[in-house]
Amino acid sequence: MQPNSSLSGKVAVVAGASRGIGAVTAHALARAGAAVVLGARDKQAVEQVAADIRFDGGQALAVPLDVGDVASNERFVRQALDSFGRLDAAFNNATDGPMPAPLADIDPDEFDRGIRTNVRGTFLGMKYQIPAMLASGGGSIVNMASLAGIQGHSGLSAYVAGKAGIIGLTKVAALDYADQGIRVNVVAPGPILTHHLEAAGAEAQRLAGLSTPMRRIGRSDEVAAAVVWLCSDQSSFITGVTLPIDGGQAAGSKPQRMYRQGEPMERQEA
Ligand SMILES: NC(=O)c1ccc[n+]([C@@H]2O[C@H](COP(=O)([O-])OP(=O)(O)OC[C@H]3O[C@@H](n4cnc5c(N)ncnc54)[C@H](OP(=O)(O)O)[C@@H]3O)[C@@H](O)[C@H]2O)c1
Repeated sequence: MQPNSSLSGKVAVVAGASRGIGAVTAHALARAGAAVVLGARDKQAVEQVAADIRFDGGQALAVPLDVGDVASNERFVRQALDSFGRLDAAFNNATDGPMPAPLADIDPDEFDRGIRTNVRGTFLGMKYQIPAMLASGGGSIVNMASLAGIQGHSGLSAYVAGKAGIIGLTKVAALDYADQGIRVNVVAPGPILTHHLEAAGAEAQRLAGLSTPMRRIGRSDEVAAAVVWLCSDQSSFITGVTLPIDGGQAAGSKPQRMYRQGEPMERQEA
């Protein structure tokens, strides 16, 4: 990604920044000029990401965070204010929950874990970010959903319910604060190469890529670029929007082959 200065002088928090898209986005926010406060449960991992950002010349601070916990969210925002004096942008990216399984096989406690991280975590994040942004003269919040919050996805009941909940919360927060200088938007990626797809291997990556009209999986920096843009004044009249970052998946289906009227289709191996 090209370095830019669209967030010069601004302060951003990233919840769920110890790896994957959150870590890459924290780097991108810092490269765009923001001082970044990174939160996650794995203290060592999140401190390493912050150290890497500082090594690259950015300003970064790591704070232990459990997004489902009230006091932890309050502390997270207070640390940003104490260290950098203001809050302009937030990326609520954390997720956790059950392994994929048919709905009736999901353990209720595991379902609750998914909802706690995604829905309660995003609610609590915004609950403490918003007053800090109001005191700073406004700001921009970007929440993390998924294409699986716009559409159903077999085996992902807690995840789909959680991500659909985040999209709903985003719309309400956007409306509540639209006339007070705070914009709230949500990104909805399709398959992105992070450690989950890396661990699943080349065949899983190939099939995930084929599921998109662009016929490829996305990269974390492609999500990060959209988040930086939504955090910046370059998107100043945009609020309440759900932005798919999905190689065209949300637009509809693009079959590998289409039959032509009156012409039998030959069988082809996948
Ligand atoms: N990768 C994809 O294909 C894809 C597609 C669509 C949407 N997404 C969404 O994008 C986001 C990032 O995805 P990813 O692949 O980078 O996931 P990931 O590697 O599993 O990262 C999840 C992050 O959330 C943090 N986290 C989990 N529970 C937390 C809690 N209770 N409190 C604070 N932090 C917590 C994790 O850190 P700790 O474990 O250290 O707390 C980690 O930093 C997720 O919201 C995911 O649903 C991903």
